Amino acid sequence: MTQHLAAPLTGTSDDAPGHRHGWWQDAVIYQVYPRSFADGNGDGMGDLDGVRRRLPYLRELGVDAVWLSPFYASPQADAGYDVADYRAIDPMFGTLLDADALIRDAHELQLRVIVDLVPNHSSVEHDWFRRALREGPGSALRQRYHFRPGKGAAGELPPNDWESIFGGPAWTRTVNPDGTPGDWYLHLFAPEQPDFNWEHPAVADEFRSILRFWLDMGVDGFRVDVAHGLVKAEGLPDIGGSGQLRLLGNDVMPFFDQDGVHEIYRQWRTILDEYPGDRIAVAEAWTPTVERTANYVRPDELHQAFNFQYLSTSWDGPALREVIDVSLAAMRPVGAPATWVLSNHDVTRHATRFAGPPGGGTQTREPGDRTLGLRRARAATLLMLALPGSAYVYQGEELGLPDVTDLPDEARQDPSYFRADGQDGFRDGCRVPIPWTREGSSYGFGSGGSWLPQPDGWGELSVEAQTGDPDSTLEMYRSALAVRKEHPGLGGGAAVEWREAPEGVLAFGRPGFLCTVNTTDAAVRIAVPGTLLLASGPVAADGPETELPANTTAWWTV
Ligand code: NOJ
Repeated sequence: MTQHLAAPLTGTSDDAPGHRHGWWQDAVIYQVYPRSFADGNGDGMGDLDGVRRRLPYLRELGVDAVWLSPFYASPQADAGYDVADYRAIDPMFGTLLDADALIRDAHELQLRVIVDLVPNHSSVEHDWFRRALREGPGSALRQRYHFRPGKGAAGELPPNDWESIFGGPAWTRTVNPDGTPGDWYLHLFAPEQPDFNWEHPAVADEFRSILRFWLDMGVDGFRVDVAHGLVKAEGLPDIGGSGQLRLLGNDVMPFFDQDGVHEIYRQWRTILDEYPGDRIAVAEAWTPTVERTANYVRPDELHQAFNFQYLSTSWDGPALREVIDVSLAAMRPVGAPATWVLSNHDVTRHATRFAGPPGGGTQTREPGDRTLGLRRARAATLLMLALPGSAYVYQGEELGLPDVTDLPDEARQDPSYFRADGQDGFRDGCRVPIPWTREGSSYGFGSGGSWLPQPDGWGELSVEAQTGDPDSTLEMYRSALAVRKEHPGLGGGAAVEWREAPEGVLAFGRPGFLCTVNTTDAAVRIAVPGTLLLASGPVAADGPETELPANTTAWWTV
């Protein structure tokens, strides 16, 4: 196959002299989790051909770009976040030709394509790591990872006290080629995911080359996995104390958010800028504060960073207002768009997170009150899509899918489930393949079942069941995305104007637009501010006053 340099999508416009407005500044980006989106070949596992066939659905939904979680060659110890070959597609997802066809078709539909890049660690099956193990302690390839002798009289203790984010020690001891116990290697995640040593020039060179490979394939950008983890503090010092690591903790850790990571992103930015058509990168950086996150999106670094503080905020008016203000304020000095996200493949779906009492955090195993959860989820979505900046939508949230909280233990696949009480231990529940049709063996996901069991009644939430029903969550998303595209006050921008509102109600203006959000469990009376554009639940708007129902958002033209 020849690399085709797929025609880049244009769309950069100068909206004011001296101010360059990139497509990504107000983009709505849809996350596809390839295993669970659509199965083209009927083997029970989603694949690239399945995604390609469903691109018209995404186009019609009204999103601007698709981000695909990893589809690279991988033994799948962490669902593809353990990459054995960064330039090959795993056979379970298809071939490079399928990737090429997918990128071309997406571009024809004016959809941009963002691929996942996993630079913090490889798979143990990566050629470098396999050779490093095989060649033994003297191997130069070991310098590309973090190999260390153990502590204790016979090296029987790990080199430091770091714990894996999935639980258990962050070190695994190797066996020497002669069968004797050997050095240890570092893995912040599963033992099958050894961390690269980013101080080694070969690692940096290799990733610059991988970036170019995919840019040459025509992709529009990268989602950078564990972007805050690449550089470790000099000497790999002990943390001291104890306790399971939290991705979103307030403690400064010697393996996260080290200043050295920024030099890597400055180099990547020059590569991205060499390519035509505004190629971007978005950081998955769990930092203690949004101010720290802003460092990743300085003008010469990456373009966006996920706003995990927003994702972790519970359905609570004052808390939401605060995180919105803090996020906008943090991004303003660096000139990057704020981003907003409610769900992804690592957290409990927001329809379930909001179904119980407000608690914040990203995980729950409680199904809660599903009607309440969906109501709040719909309101939260209209709030998110009214905010200035770029928004991320995780596959299936447009169907109002709840998390599947009762998966049988024997069906579970998430490695963090099997390792102690990792904070991510419930991630399978948001990864259940999505329903496309009312009936069928896997509700239209494919012709051959589904790799995680879908619950009974899943078909009632399907695309087929919701299409054309004006009250459905799917039609609400379609309308919201259409309005967002057309209304001049929505999309990009850097500020909201708060209005006075009853307790628990958020009201903010944007040019020609007003958003009112009732986060409480009781209806409130408000003055009708303008013409109703869209609401997440029934709102009457034919008098000077109206009732904003509990847990409801309304959009108004003013
Ligand atoms: C973040 C990814 O989103 C998650 O799914 C993965 O397990 C870790 N990074 C490790 O790559």
